[in-house]
Amino acid sequence: MTEALTEIGVIILAAGQGTRMKSGLPKVLHKIGGKPLFLHVLKTAKLLRPQRVAIVVGHGADAVRRAYGGSDVIWVTQEEQLGTGHAVLSTKRNFADFPGDLLILSGDVPLIQERTLRSMVARHRKEQAAVTLLTAVLDEPAGYGRILRDGHGAVKASVEEKDATDEQRRIQEVNAGAYVAQGEFLFEALEQVKNDNRQGEYYLPDIAGIGLGQGRKIATVQVGDPKEMMGINTREELARMEKSLRERINKQWMDAGVTLKDPDTTYIEDGVAIGRDTIIGPNTQLCGRTVIGERCQIDGSAYVMDTQIGNDVHLLFSVVLMNSQAEQGAIIGPFAHLRPGTSLAANVHIGNFVETKAAIIGVGTKANHLTYLGDCTIGRDSNIGAGTITCNYDGFAKYKTQIGDRVQVGSDTTLVAPVTLGDDVYVATASTVRQDVPAGALVYNERQERVREGWTEKKRQKMKDKTK
Ligand code: UD1
Ligand code: CA
Repeated sequence: MTEALTEIGVIILAAGQGTRMKSGLPKVLHKIGGKPLFLHVLKTAKLLRPQRVAIVVGHGADAVRRAYGGSDVIWVTQEEQLGTGHAVLSTKRNFADFPGDLLILSGDVPLIQERTLRSMVARHRKEQAAVTLLTAVLDEPAGYGRILRDGHGAVKASVEEKDATDEQRRIQEVNAGAYVAQGEFLFEALEQVKNDNRQGEYYLPDIAGIGLGQGRKIATVQVGDPKEMMGINTREELARMEKSLRERINKQWMDAGVTLKDPDTTYIEDGVAIGRDTIIGPNTQLCGRTVIGERCQIDGSAYVMDTQIGNDVHLLFSVVLMNSQAEQGAIIGPFAHLRPGTSLAANVHIGNFVETKAAIIGVGTKANHLTYLGDCTIGRDSNIGAGTITCNYDGFAKYKTQIGDRVQVGSDTTLVAPVTLGDDVYVATASTVRQDVPAGALVYNERQERVREGWTEKKRQKMKDKTK
């Protein structure tokens, strides 16, 4: 008996369409913090280390399944959305042999917290309740089911707003839509739930009344911060939720020793990591699996996706970094674009209007101005002059450029790949390099430079005569 109580199963309801989102996507696939709503719920639920997790899908079932890569959940299809009670009942055979308690969550309530779920399970077990409801007291309870209590404060029922009397609608305590129920009781009670209500649906909260009818106990836990239990039904609520999540994540990073100059315009996705004493300026977006080291400085207007940055890196104003890496002491920007596959070793400088792609650049090398480095490797301590272009594409295929250590590439150079420059090569300014250059050599293009004195004056005169 005691052993069974340690077991916990999770059911996440995600079959609804979310009509008010006015969307081609099922509601739970809308994202906050870069992640679909239901995956926030799943992530939090997993912190309880449940033995079994079932997700009820219906609208856009395939897309919802695909949005989660893992294979550690059971997908249950609810063909017709006949209500939350019906949705839970559709998991009956998946939990027939399950001895523990079941935690039921909504896929559209993404900010629910682990400690809230834990306190629900603890209360449920302590009170040996048939079902434990999460409730919240709201200034504006409209839209939610209301909690009815008797004179002693014991729960009598949860009544949906559409079925409530005017008096009941004034009740501010609402059903937050998260439940813990004892498995056997749950499915037996759901079999008895009827749909004789204003919406013609099978309501999950009706199991409370059924429990009471059997003389069983119904427990409640009141949520600490009502933001946690907010559901999303409209795009406006989605935006508000995005903001709440952002505030929570930003606070967490500030608590961990990161300075955010303007938290209101700092967007850090769930899954990003940042080292202490890093300073982040306004309009910064850190996305995907980005990792930022310690003591980094991000001046602002930075978009960083799936990029790993070492300690003491400086991102100057306005940079875009995609799927790249930069080691300790690198300096990037302003106005630089690192495209996928860029890897900068320690102390590399990438300056204004420099674009890199699949570029592996060695320690201390600098490319400070107006340059495209694509499909190339560059050794250490080389200098790439302003206006250097790796011509990596001939319209059919991509080719590689290889540049050695301590190479000086003069300004306005085009390197026509495939091409290799050995160590210590000098490229004269304005060269087009089409052939490999051995170590230590100078490469330049023969070109005659001529000066015609007085040419401008003559030209102007000629143009004037013409227009007469
Ligand atoms: C529900 C509660 C309400 C509570 C509110 C809290 C019921 C009847 N009402 O209302 O008391 O205050 O949550 O947020 O439970 N779903 C399915 N299949 C269905 C119907 C719904 O999977 O047939 C899913 C939805 O996708 C959603 C969740 O269940 O993720 C909740 O359904 P929703 O229709 O949003 O219920 P509410 O009207 O918000
Ligand atoms: Ca809802």
